Amino acid sequence: MFLLEPETAHRLTLWLLHAVLSVPLLGDAFRRFYTVKNTKLHRNVLGLTFENPVGLAAGFDKDGQHLNEMAALGFGFIEVGTVTPRPQPGNPTPRLFRLPADHALLNRMGFNNRGAEILAQRLAFARPKGLIIGGNIGKNKDTTAENTLADYIFCFEILFDHVDYFAVNVSSPNTPHLRTLQEKEPLLVLLSHLQNLNQQKKTPKPLLLKIAPDLTDSQLDDIIEVAQITQLAGVIATNTTISREGLETDKNEVAAFGDGGLSGAPLSQRATEIIRYLHQKSEGKLVIIGVGGIETPADALEKIAAGASLVQIYSGLVYAGPALVKQINQQLVKA
Ligand code: FNR
Repeated sequence: MFLLEPETAHRLTLWLLHAVLSVPLLGDAFRRFYTVKNTKLHRNVLGLTFENPVGLAAGFDKDGQHLNEMAALGFGFIEVGTVTPRPQPGNPTPRLFRLPADHALLNRMGFNNRGAEILAQRLAFARPKGLIIGGNIGKNKDTTAENTLADYIFCFEILFDHVDYFAVNVSSPNTPHLRTLQEKEPLLVLLSHLQNLNQQKKTPKPLLLKIAPDLTDSQLDDIIEVAQITQLAGVIATNTTISREGLETDKNEVAAFGDGGLSGAPLSQRATEIIRYLHQKSEGKLVIIGVGGIETPADALEKIAAGASLVQIYSGLVYAGPALVKQINQQLVKA
């Protein structure tokens, strides 16, 4: 797979998975091989019961087209998106790069997706039974600052009946001005509006905020305060980083890749620090989904020890392979 261009490898992996799962007996054997079933893995968080605490991070299956395939790898939940109101192509390719020496990826995909409406339709008819789905929502690249709130509301409303929780994404580095929504005032406006709409529903859904690892302690304090005011269910920590510090890969090579968010092993420590900080400062009141650089069962346990109730993986699938989900769950049963 590493001989192929990254986006081609991604598509080929999913195609192969689809092909394997289409063969009846082989598909069942595949599912049994990867799935760890044990009541010790069950987690009651966010008012939901998760079969296990290991989820697929946002961005892998943006349009919810591969839910069966990814569920067969034994994930306890899948976060689809980020979706935007209107479909958009994302940035020009190449926009995804591997840094094998660092077990990292660099991406500037730019929310390439088919739009929230198509995702809602897909979830309405092709949602694997019992699988917990999070809907990660964002804004279109060309949406003006005044219309940003409307973009989030559009995605929220259209996906409401089809997801179990929402991840409000204000932390992708690849959409201009998105991360300024992490500042206290705009964040308060955005989350208050979404929570108001949410509370008017018969059964409100848990709202979570996905944050960047590049925030200062005082910004994290603001986020905790806003989370309390708006009664947020939790925080997903973290998205990719814009930092390029401490990498093994040659500086010039990294610079030549250009802008984008870095994920994988180099992110692990910072993401764990943020989880610990949020957990301690909120006195355990915030539900935290820990994500960033998990590529071994020990990495997942570290995030949980720092205060995460659930974890998610993306880059670890590329470097450790799909059995990572099973390995983490097996280790969690032992632990
Ligand atoms: C991402 N990530 C991401 N996050 C998000 O909230 N919305 C998105 O659309 C995307 N898209 C995306 C694309 C690609 C190619 C990558 C590698 C990552 C971020 C992802 O969900 C996760 O937060 C980070 O990658 C950190 O986790 P890992 O990869 O270190 O396990």
